[in-house]
Amino acid sequence: MRYLTFALAKGRLAKKSMALFEEIGIRCDEMKDPDTRKLIFTNEELGMRFFLAKPSDVPTYVEYGVADIGIVGKDTLLEENRNLYEVLDMGFGACRMCVCGPESARELLKRNEIIRVASKYPNIAENYFRNKKNQSIEVIKLNGSVELAPIVGLADVIVDIVETGSTLKENGLTVLEEVCPLSARIVVNQVSLKMEHERIRRFLTDVAEQLRAEQ
Ligand code: PRP
Repeated sequence: MRYLTFALAKGRLAKKSMALFEEIGIRCDEMKDPDTRKLIFTNEELGMRFFLAKPSDVPTYVEYGVADIGIVGKDTLLEENRNLYEVLDMGFGACRMCVCGPESARELLKRNEIIRVASKYPNIAENYFRNKKNQSIEVIKLNGSVELAPIVGLADVIVDIVETGSTLKENGLTVLEEVCPLSARIVVNQVSLKMEHERIRRFLTDVAEQLRAEQ
């Protein structure tokens, strides 16, 4: 039997997904070892294989077909904009993509001036301001701790993920606008969906049922 291959976003998302899969009979005990540095795990009995990838690379593995199925946040899907099918919202990892900054920046967002936006998500930032707001921006790409940028004067506002809101609060920033809601999604390679239709359909049905049961 050909392996059905999953690319999982390393970290919390992979752990939550594997816990859910276990409930529908898909186990991979080897992955639970906290000391393991392995990146590929197999369940020979089920004919399944799991990759642990950097979240932003999950859509790439799925688009190229080396993974049939990917589990990744909607933020990554929007930023990477790959050719794949987004088939299921898993609901967990729920948070929001927002424009944030000091309260004083609220006025700036209403004026038609070029504003400086720092973000780990330059494509999402560009799309939101250009297409939804028809506003010109200069995007400054950062790789983390983005909240620093408006505080130290690198940018006027940021486009970033807000979950509990505590990072913003503790740094004197606030949500100025909501870009979109986010959560974990299941994506499928376009060819795999045809070639492995039955196995993928059964997997998706089981996951959807389990998610409903857990609500
Ligand atoms: C994310 C995000 C915010 C924070 C939001 O950062 O970029 O900074 O979490 O969470 P909160 O609303 O619950 O405070 P992450 O922890 O992934 O680290 P990073 O800043 O290095 O990207």
